[in-house]
Amino acid sequence: MTIRIAPSILSADLAHLARDVDLVLQGGADQIHVDVMDGHFVPNLTFGAPVVKSLRQYTAAILDCHLMVERPESYIGAFRDAGATIMTIHCEATSHLERHLTAIREAGMQPGVALNPATPLALIEEIVAEVDLLLIMTVNPGFGGQSFIPGSIDKIRRARAMLDAAGSHAALEVDGGISRDTIAACRRAGADTFVAGNAIFSAKDPQAEIGALRALCRPDAETA
Ligand code: DX5
Ligand code: ZN
Repeated sequence: MTIRIAPSILSADLAHLARDVDLVLQGGADQIHVDVMDGHFVPNLTFGAPVVKSLRQYTAAILDCHLMVERPESYIGAFRDAGATIMTIHCEATSHLERHLTAIREAGMQPGVALNPATPLALIEEIVAEVDLLLIMTVNPGFGGQSFIPGSIDKIRRARAMLDAAGSHAALEVDGGISRDTIAACRRAGADTFVAGNAIFSAKDPQAEIGALRALCRPDAETA
């Protein structure tokens, strides 16, 4: 199974964004996680398509865009034009999920669907075979640096079973409170893609931290 580490630029130094992106990519990051917040779906504001556009002009890296916004379908064209690789939308933020995931694929991006901690997996059962990424939130979205919700482990396990039953090769991404303390349990439960903001960017050596997180995903890693 391919393991991917996705640093979240929510925790980067935004006055030195290019420098921080270079740092994590040179440190072995597999993709850059871009947290888009609208102040409605979540109680915080961050950045939108213009930042994705600037990043795309700067790097060829996978831009893993996580839209925590109401009616994300309004932004499909903007994120396509900006050069997003993955566009993940929350199932709680829109009706007609199937239509919008299809539109994201038709726009040339990889469609992802995200679930808040309180949202049951059953809500996405009918469309899970159509996504390239399933994002299980392991905190309530809105802020970096929150504590991992322990009950998420069982949900990750059930999400893995759901993807396997659908014959899906979608990435199973976890996001929120991922650190040296939590990553191995998520990996064992079946996650393969790990977003980390605070753990990486607050580390003394972010590149070493990426290596440490990846090492904890190895099957032979000591159990945490
Ligand atoms: C939370 C965001 C996360 C956040 C994770 O709303 O979706 O991507 O940046 O931050 P950490 O890793 O600090 O919990
Ligand atoms: Zn995120």
